[in-house]
Amino acid sequence: MLPPPLPTRILDNIEDAAARLKQGELVAFPTETVYGLGANALDPLAVARVFEAKQRPSFDPLIVHVADLQCISEVARELPDPGQKLADKFWPGPMTLVLPRTHKIPDLVTSGLPGVGVRIPQHPIARKLLATAAIPVAAPSANPFGGVSPTTVQHVADGLNGSIDAILDGGPCTIGLESTVISLMYDDPVVLRLGGLSIEEIEQVIGPVPIAQSNPEREDAAQAAPGMLSRHYAPKTPIVLHEVHSQIEPSSAQDALLTWGAPAEDDEQFEILVRLSGTDDLAECAANFFAGLRSLDAHDPRVIIARRFPDHGLGRALNDRLNRAAN
Ligand code: TXA
Ligand code: MG
Repeated sequence: MLPPPLPTRILDNIEDAAARLKQGELVAFPTETVYGLGANALDPLAVARVFEAKQRPSFDPLIVHVADLQCISEVARELPDPGQKLADKFWPGPMTLVLPRTHKIPDLVTSGLPGVGVRIPQHPIARKLLATAAIPVAAPSANPFGGVSPTTVQHVADGLNGSIDAILDGGPCTIGLESTVISLMYDDPVVLRLGGLSIEEIEQVIGPVPIAQSNPEREDAAQAAPGMLSRHYAPKTPIVLHEVHSQIEPSSAQDALLTWGAPAEDDEQFEILVRLSGTDDLAECAANFFAGLRSLDAHDPRVIIARRFPDHGLGRALNDRLNRAAN
């Protein structure tokens, strides 16, 4: 019989975490969006262990994280012009650019695609970790595939304890939604995934950009954005969505409510309730969103009734996550 897996270590020492990454270990680390499950992007064995730990299908490529713009040339052959403008404005930050890859990047990282997703995160611990390790770090969100993304150390441990080597503690993530993914592999930029950088902010810099639609008929590598499956970010409880201004009442005492804004009269009828923000502050809603979903799920309600968000700014990315979680 195999021995039971060792419990995952919680680290607070960045040098220790960097040394482990260099040795091929899997180390989860904080970014301003969500926790990432890091591995040396140049080490195919370490990258393979990421797919195994997450139970992630090999058609879904990983984002490579680097410390600063000087490090980009190791992973990407060029930064085409609109990308340079975006990089100047939004890096470090919650943005991933898909760029032509170099031959140094193993096929497994990009799932064999010609483009590699690259991100320079802003979180001070992530930046110091990347600078100390001095290697590009492949990191998907640090959760089992298809589940709710982690915004605290506890969330990472809940999903991956025993299957990864360590977690570097950086407290809760401040943005709370994954990075916005923009591909520069076509004639014009295309948004592959809505996220922590809003479309409005992007369009101020490069003008109108289309958002790739996922094709529900092709839940595989044929997607422009292979990870954008129609069911994703999903808790175990079924989710029912309600419109922004609709009146919401429970149909059983076991129904839970995920809402935001000033309390409505009928909210009191819910015994299990999470209010993401007491106002319509979408940044606050985003920061609390995944933790809110998880805490409702832990009550094991019959159903989670969720109020949609206004369809602008971070509200669009939040609605995208709700739609996929409810699918
Ligand atoms: O905020 C984030 O982006 C976090 C932190 C850790 O950086 N990472 C993250 O990774 O959310 P992940 O693997 O959970 O989601 C990455 C998304 C997937 O939908 C994937 O398909 C897409 O980015 N992606 C990555 N590389 C790509 C590539 N080369 N071409 C097209 N899509 C890519
Ligand atoms: Mg993910």
